[in-house]
Formats: sequence, structure tokens, C-alpha cells
Amino acid sequence: MYDDIVLKLQKEHRLSAAEYKELLVNPVYDSALQEAARRQALEIFGNEIYIRGLIEFTNYCKNNCYYCGIRAGNKNVERYRLTKDDILLCCEHGYELGFRTFVLQGGEDKLFTEEILCDIVSAIRKEFPDCAITLSFGELPRSMYQSLFDSGANRYLLRHETANPIHYSKLHPENLSHENRIKCLYDLKEIGYQVGCGLMVGSPYQTVDNLVEDLMFIGDFKPHMVGIGPFIPHKDTPFAHYSAGSVQMTLKLLSIIRLMEPRVLLPSTTALASLMPDGCEQGILAGANVVMPNLSPDIAKSKYILYNNKSSVGAQDANALLVLRQRLNKIGYTISNSRGDYN
Ligand code: 5AD
Repeated sequence: MYDDIVLKLQKEHRLSAAEYKELLVNPVYDSALQEAARRQALEIFGNEIYIRGLIEFTNYCKNNCYYCGIRAGNKNVERYRLTKDDILLCCEHGYELGFRTFVLQGGEDKLFTEEILCDIVSAIRKEFPDCAITLSFGELPRSMYQSLFDSGANRYLLRHETANPIHYSKLHPENLSHENRIKCLYDLKEIGYQVGCGLMVGSPYQTVDNLVEDLMFIGDFKPHMVGIGPFIPHKDTPFAHYSAGSVQMTLKLLSIIRLMEPRVLLPSTTALASLMPDGCEQGILAGANVVMPNLSPDIAKSKYILYNNKSSVGAQDANALLVLRQRLNKIGYTISNSRGDYN
């Protein structure tokens, strides 16, 4: 009975490492898994998809992650920073379009000091009291996570990238440690943020056992959100010549995670949409319930390039959002107008 493991995951929400591995390596479970995950999401969220307005506010980064296009060592990037006013304009525009969550994402940019970032967060909090503020700009001291939270931020996205420390060291230079990454995630949770971890599927040197470790980590950490997308090479990085991660494996992981953590907020990611014209829809049909359209100004969009051929699920204007709405309608879903908190 191929459905046995899927049934167990559906009922108990956890499997042994050996069972996760069996699901990952054996394609016979794919359709049952996907169906169960889709049903699980429908049961909890109905056919509503949450939207988050993504604002890529700086592509400066002090880090040199081997996979990432905006790594400090990439001299071919034209760097930019949005001002507080630029960011507030993006939010105003997003609010009018119906967004009730803003995601401030950026590289680890020293010029955005604690004071400046807290001022930006406070301003958004004041102008949009009914909106959630999600932050995503990497590893910071706990005290800074705390002040940003006190300024009004609600959520933080920090992908763990891989649960295996040795694999982590193959993706990052020596000054970055897996230990600190994980510590940051626990700090964020203790402070009271809704926290997202996540990983790239098919990153260089990743094994199936690594993916099993990622699932076990997710099971222990119990994140509120999980960001999963395929690795996609960027031409100006040390990983330029590695191949992209598998769409099938990405979809399978989305389904497993939906069944492990039924209420988790699970985006159908830009990376998935970049590898497949209907990647966004495929992600939702595999159990995802969030889409993150880009609200950044055009000047930012062309320069915030983590990997090549990045797609843009549009919200530049009402029309782009209408296109997204139509695409979701076509597969039986609608856009929710709520904040979409974890609960
Ligand atoms: N391919 C896919 N995802 C990437 N990220 C960074 N570079 C790439 C790439 N080349 C992801 C990382 C990071 C998030 C912001 O983007 O997982 O945490």
C-alpha cells in the first residue's frame, strides 16, 4: 500500500527519518502526497491565498554566500538603496492594491543601522496600523531583533538554508556559521516574532539525507512560515556552473511540509515560478497558500537579482495583480484580503 506512509503523515504529522527518505526518493507517493497536502490546505485556509507585498530595499550585502547573486564579491552588481520615503511609497501603493502585509527584504547592509531600520518600521507601523510587517535582512544581534519587534515588526524570514552544518559550510564562507544562523532563528521565536525558516532545493552538495535533516529540523523548530524554492545558478557566483534544483522535489517538499505543519504559511516562491511558467500555480496545488508579489520600484527590480532568469509575480500595478487573480481563479482559488497571520 503506497498510501500508508502518506496516511501516517496526514494523521500524525510526523514521520521517521527513514520514512521521509522513502517519500523523497520514491515517486510512487507523489500524487497521493500532493492530493493530501492540497486537501489539508483547503481544510484550513479554504480556497483563499494570502498575498504579501515584497519590497527589496537594498542589494548591498556584506556577506559572500557562494550561491547568491548579490554577494559582496560580485562586482557586476549595480548597488542601490531605497530611502525611507521610497519604502513608504511602496507600502502606500501596496495598501491601495489590497496588501495587508509588507515584507522588507534586503542584503545585510551595514548602512541600515538599528536606528534607521527602527525608524522605518515605526513609520510603517504608524501609517498602517492594520498591516503586518515582515522583515528579512539576515542575521542580527538579538538586541536588534528585539528593538525592531518593539518598533512594530511582526514576522521575520530567515531561511536556515540547510540543517546540516557541514553542508552549510560548503555554501558559505568561513565567517558564517550554521550555529549562529540557528541561534538567530530561536532568538526570533523567543522574542515573539512569527518566524520563517527555509531552504533551497538542489543547492550544490545537497544530498537526500540533507533534505531529511531539513524536515527533521522543521519538525523540531515548528516554524510559522517556510520558504522553499529550487536553487537557480547565478552567472557571477562560484556556483555559476551547477544545475538548478528540481521542480518536482520542490513541490514534493511543499506537500510534506503542509502535512507536517497544517497551519504553516507556505509561499509558492519566486524561484519556483522562475523555473516553470505555471510554477506559482503548481506550488499552490502542492499545498502552498501564500504568494509574494513584488512591490519594489522598477529600478530595484532589475538589480535585486539573486539568481538568473528571476521571474516577477507582478503587483507593479492593479493590472498585474488582476492577472495574478485570474491565474489563481483558473485553478479555483481567490486572493484573501486579510493580513493572514499564523494561528
Ligand atoms: N537560487 C535560489 N535561491 C536563492 N537564494 C539566494 N540565492 C539563490 C539562488 N541562487 C535564496 C536564499 C536566501 C533567499 C533570500 O533567497 O535561500 O535565503
